[in-house]
Amino acid sequence: MNRTLGLIGSGMIGGTLARLAVNAGWKVVLSNSRGPDTLADLVAELGANARAATPAEAARAGDIVVVTVPLHAYDKLPAAELTGKTVIDTLNYYPERDGRIAALDNDELTSSELVQRHLSGARVVKAFNSIGAKQLASLARPAGSPERSGLPIAGDDADAKKEAAELLDALGYDAVDVAPLAESWRSGPNTPLYCYPYVGDMPTGLTPEELMLWFFETPGVPVPAERVRELAACAVRGPAGASLGVAQ
Ligand SMILES: NC(=O)c1ccc[n+]([C@@H]2O[C@H](COP(=O)([O-])OP(=O)(O)OC[C@H]3O[C@@H](n4cnc5c(N)ncnc54)[C@H](OP(=O)(O)O)[C@@H]3O)[C@@H](O)[C@H]2O)c1
Repeated sequence: MNRTLGLIGSGMIGGTLARLAVNAGWKVVLSNSRGPDTLADLVAELGANARAATPAEAARAGDIVVVTVPLHAYDKLPAAELTGKTVIDTLNYYPERDGRIAALDNDELTSSELVQRHLSGARVVKAFNSIGAKQLASLARPAGSPERSGLPIAGDDADAKKEAAELLDALGYDAVDVAPLAESWRSGPNTPLYCYPYVGDMPTGLTPEELMLWFFETPGVPVPAERVRELAACAVRGPAGASLGVAQ
């Protein structure tokens, strides 16, 4: 089976997912805001199973599509082409980057519900939002490995969550179903599950800049699926957005 992963956004997380997918035998269609030509280096690195396209083409080509853009660009996602698709949403809310979004600030919606409203014909599943790009690359393990990590998923559609879990499995992670989209905050900023478990013990005595560098470079530590389940269950809803810092 040679499935195709469509990627809308091919930066830190999108590029990492593309590498994991190609390693797992998937085809990938990458896209970004500046056009396919600007992805030539990444396509060359990934080899014959990768190509670059427009966001609309990546949406059409994907058996499953990951949207991994800054949240402020959510309403530019190609809703028509994503109709009928399972869409994985990695987006997190950073007001300094994304601007203030009242519906998120007042807890009327989660960021994934905002994405789902825009992509009204798609089945949105939140995933890959609670782990840094470096750790996402380095902690992937085959099924059955004692060092395999779990990652939370959240969604409203059982079939879409099954497809998302199959993708996570292929890419090296156990999917842990933690919530419907309305509770996808359980893996978001300002919760115990958000990025920090996967980096492990942080060094002391570093400046904020040094800490950020460390965060972007540390390979991280495995977080078993059961621990993910526990952390999601004990989460308390805090402020919707996070400050720009080590985890984006
Ligand atoms: N970095 C992390 O460790 C991390 C971890 C978990 C979740 N996240 C979340 O995942 C998302 C992506 O993060 P990232 O760190 O990968 O971001 P990034 O490195 O800045 O990459 C963003 C990508 O989105 C593309 N993009 C922006 N606007 C677009 C549009 N309108 N249409 C199509 N593509 C567009 C950019 O393309 P251009 O460069 O051409 O503009 C770029 O390829 C964010 O919401 C972030 O909060 C990040």
